[in-house]
Amino acid sequence: MCGIVGYIGKDNAKDVIIDGLKKLEYRGYDSAGIAVVRNGKLEIKKHVGGIANLENLIGDDPMTSHIGIGHTRWATHGAPSDLNAHPHSNEDETIAIIHNGIIENYQELKQELIEKHNIKFKSETDTEVIAQLIGVIYKEKKDLLESVFAAEEKMRGAYAIVAVAQDEPDKIVAVRKDAPLIVGLGKGSNFIASDIPALLKYVKEIYLIENNETVLATADEVKIFDENRNEIKREVFHVTWDADSAEKEGFEHFMLKEIYEQPKGLSETLNRRLDETGKINLEGITLTKEQIENFSKIYIVACGTAYHAGLVGKYIIEQLVKIPVEVDVASEFRYRNPLVDENTLFIAISQSGETLDTLAALREAKSKGARVLSVVNVVGSSVARESDDVFYTWAGPEIAVASTKAYTTQLMCMYMLALYMGLEKGTITREFYDRFIKDLQGIPAKLETFLKKAPEIEEEAKQLYNREQVFFIGRGLDSAVSYEGSLKLKEISYINSFAIAAGELKHGTIALMEPGTLVIALACQDFLYEKMVSNIQEIKARGAYVMAVAKEGNVSIEAQSDRMIYIPECRDEIAPLISVVPLQLFAYYVAKERGCNIDKPKNLAKSVTVE
Ligand code: G6P
Repeated sequence: MCGIVGYIGKDNAKDVIIDGLKKLEYRGYDSAGIAVVRNGKLEIKKHVGGIANLENLIGDDPMTSHIGIGHTRWATHGAPSDLNAHPHSNEDETIAIIHNGIIENYQELKQELIEKHNIKFKSETDTEVIAQLIGVIYKEKKDLLESVFAAEEKMRGAYAIVAVAQDEPDKIVAVRKDAPLIVGLGKGSNFIASDIPALLKYVKEIYLIENNETVLATADEVKIFDENRNEIKREVFHVTWDADSAEKEGFEHFMLKEIYEQPKGLSETLNRRLDETGKINLEGITLTKEQIENFSKIYIVACGTAYHAGLVGKYIIEQLVKIPVEVDVASEFRYRNPLVDENTLFIAISQSGETLDTLAALREAKSKGARVLSVVNVVGSSVARESDDVFYTWAGPEIAVASTKAYTTQLMCMYMLALYMGLEKGTITREFYDRFIKDLQGIPAKLETFLKKAPEIEEEAKQLYNREQVFFIGRGLDSAVSYEGSLKLKEISYINSFAIAAGELKHGTIALMEPGTLVIALACQDFLYEKMVSNIQEIKARGAYVMAVAKEGNVSIEAQSDRMIYIPECRDEIAPLISVVPLQLFAYYVAKERGCNIDKPKNLAKSVTVE
């Protein structure tokens, strides 16, 4: 998520670092900063906004130094601000840290540092806790590597950390635990980074650092230690990618990369909020049991893909929390004088948190007294700032205009919210809750397995890419997913696609069925499976060409379909987390066959901040 660059060597560190950070800009970030050791003194400059802001702050100062670290921040703890930007330092500003990831027990550690060491914190970040922790340990050990080792023992979470110390200006120490970290091997210079593009201009030979490894880099040498502090040897990896494919980590497009990032995004969104007992810890949400019990109505309001996540949210919240839910597109909600009052929960869903229609709808609901909760991917965005409670998706920056990983993590938030509220309200039992959570935890692995079938879907796309129109049908939750599948296809392939609840087909749309009409039918809801098979028979009778998506084992549908895509078995309610993926892949491969500009489709913008 965040971008990391470290440098030690012959050249001026600031120039190398700023250059490296610029190569990581494409990932999205909200602030940037740099730390160098100049003439025996640690100096830190950081600023909210783009790297240009940081460069303005630095001005003509060369910050002459042979060692430094730099960072682009994608906020997770604390809003984007100068203070929360990295690098962070210890109290006497002798040690600087940059960090990507999350320290799960940072509150516990922070409390300990305040109580035992009287530390005064400057920021709201978990990163400062690392800097202060290492700072306290360093006072005793007077050795950066040893201090980082000792700090690692106390930290829980997923992170990559890079540290420099004023008193040891000849070394950089870095650690990797579940967040990317690489070392670039130069001549008389070494580099640390989160991503290959940051270093491509300087080096092609790198070490890929593995989890639980610690790196000690000087200008002439790099040592890697395992978790038992034993030095280990690593083979050199020769980078053959050009800058463009390196940004996409070898994927041809950001959209494909983001489709493949879904297991990780889902696992982070879920697992990082579960405590040891399996209960959901809704950090940033202060909804009380009493409030939940008093809600008489819930509105979910959003645009585009986020609206489609809301359709799934309605279904699941009504089932689990037993409160009526209305889902609205934001541009309609704000002009229809909605029946909102103090007993209304208003849920806004937005990847960017900047969509003007969603923001305006939120303001409308707030002015009428609703409690406002938002599900947002960008920390500190306008929607997040104006909400009473924020439930962040941890999808990481989404770059392709067509949303994929933001959608599935939004769905995950819907399940978690419903489970949380259901348990608080007593509309579900703890036993039901535990089983559901376990099933959700199984999804990332199932998705990984399913993604291996991408070549099959590519094959289908090669056969079907030249259709002029495509219909998507499904019932229940499958119908919600079919809307998203249809939107994906039209957004990036420019094929006229249309989604409709399968049972509604016969009330008009079936008039459009002709021999060869392509229909993508979702049949992933066991209790509606037979009904769906009947709907498919109706359109097959008119000559439609059917590609069906069903759960493994439900083979009877094969007889009615021309093509089949099987997804792994899972409970009906959570099938959308998997069943949307073949539709994303199909849209992607069709658009590719048609030679479309997949990551930046015509006429569309990632974030629509106009009405
Ligand atoms: C734009 C994008 C869509 C997105 C919608 C809502 O129209 O092209 O992909 O779903 O905005 O964006 P949000 O950031 O609010 O989720």
